[in-house]
Amino acid sequence: SRGCKLIGSGSAIPSLQISNDDLAKIVDTSDEWISVRTGIRNRHVLSAKESLTTLAAEAARKALEMAHVDADDVDMILMCSSTPEDLFGSAPQIQKALGCKRNPLAYDITAACSGFVLGLVSAACHIRGGGFNNVLVIGADSLSRYVDWTDRGSCILFGDAAGAVLVQSCDAEDDGLFAFDLHSDGDGQRHLKASIKENEIDHTIGTNGSILDFPPRPASYSCIQMNGKEVFRFACRCVPQSIETALGKAGLNGSNIDWLLLHQANQRIIDAVATRLEMPQERIISNLENYGNTSAASIPLALDESVRSGKVKSGDLIATAGFGAGLTWGSAVIRW
Ligand code: ACO
Repeated sequence: SRGCKLIGSGSAIPSLQISNDDLAKIVDTSDEWISVRTGIRNRHVLSAKESLTTLAAEAARKALEMAHVDADDVDMILMCSSTPEDLFGSAPQIQKALGCKRNPLAYDITAACSGFVLGLVSAACHIRGGGFNNVLVIGADSLSRYVDWTDRGSCILFGDAAGAVLVQSCDAEDDGLFAFDLHSDGDGQRHLKASIKENEIDHTIGTNGSILDFPPRPASYSCIQMNGKEVFRFACRCVPQSIETALGKAGLNGSNIDWLLLHQANQRIIDAVATRLEMPQERIISNLENYGNTSAASIPLALDESVRSGKVKSGDLIATAGFGAGLTWGSAVIRW
């Protein structure tokens, strides 16, 4: 039987930086409030002229370089994103940007901040059961385009970025994805959403089935609406449980793990989960101070930085978990 392993990572961030002090100029907030409550000091945001697809392709290119894999040898691209630049998905545009000559399948996975973990697991399934050899898993989001910049409760949290890993087939004994645990709870959607605007589509059909207003206007999405307290509680409740489940499936416990790499949403969430799992500070990966919550990009971005700085070394065991809108959450135990 076949296994899969992570052999390269890459990331890319937009050049435009927004500090907490910058935000204090547009909403009633302060650097102190934001950094104490979230740990965030800076975030990067795509300018109107920049493209998330280009950013994602840049991250993917760096992952291929590190893996020493040619773009022509990639046989699948998974773009984990909730903010594609085309309603039908951005993954094929990344395939085009990379110039993969064999027309590998490329498709999008939408699962908010859990997207990357889901992408990793999907890549493993495609490799183990589908005969694929080199799968690019990209996490990229530009939530800045959907943030309500007048809502101080949410606009302080988010930033834009892209991260990628190359997952390659290998012998079963070298397998680098030990176990995973994935969930969703549609009932919790009311706590965190950016829904299609109902008033724009609702009134086109009358109660008797007659068309009142035709043709329909093009649909659009409302800004992110979030109940921060509920999302906070959900993360602190579900994430430790999920990681413990994944560790249990792998026959491991927290003490076997070199690194805890959580979706970077809030330092207080990271600390609460680490405390529950009895993980010491020095084994926690955190970079949200510089980037804020970059949704599906946060895990591969933090992984790539840690690998390139020499912190995460070949063979290290990592417990990773994503959580967010949907609600969705999931964890995986991986070896770098
Ligand atoms: N600056 C100053 N004051 C603020 C700000 C701000 N930016 N935001 C809120 N406040 C005020 C509130 O108005 C409130 O004032 P009041 O007591 O007079 O009513 C007070 O601060 C406390 O507000 P809370 O919302 O209770 O603050 P809390 O401690 O819960 O922190 C936060 C808010 C940071 C949003 C926190 O709840 C959080 O991080 N939740 C998790 C959110 C998250 O991670 N979301 C992303 C999920 S990932 C995805 O899929 C997109």
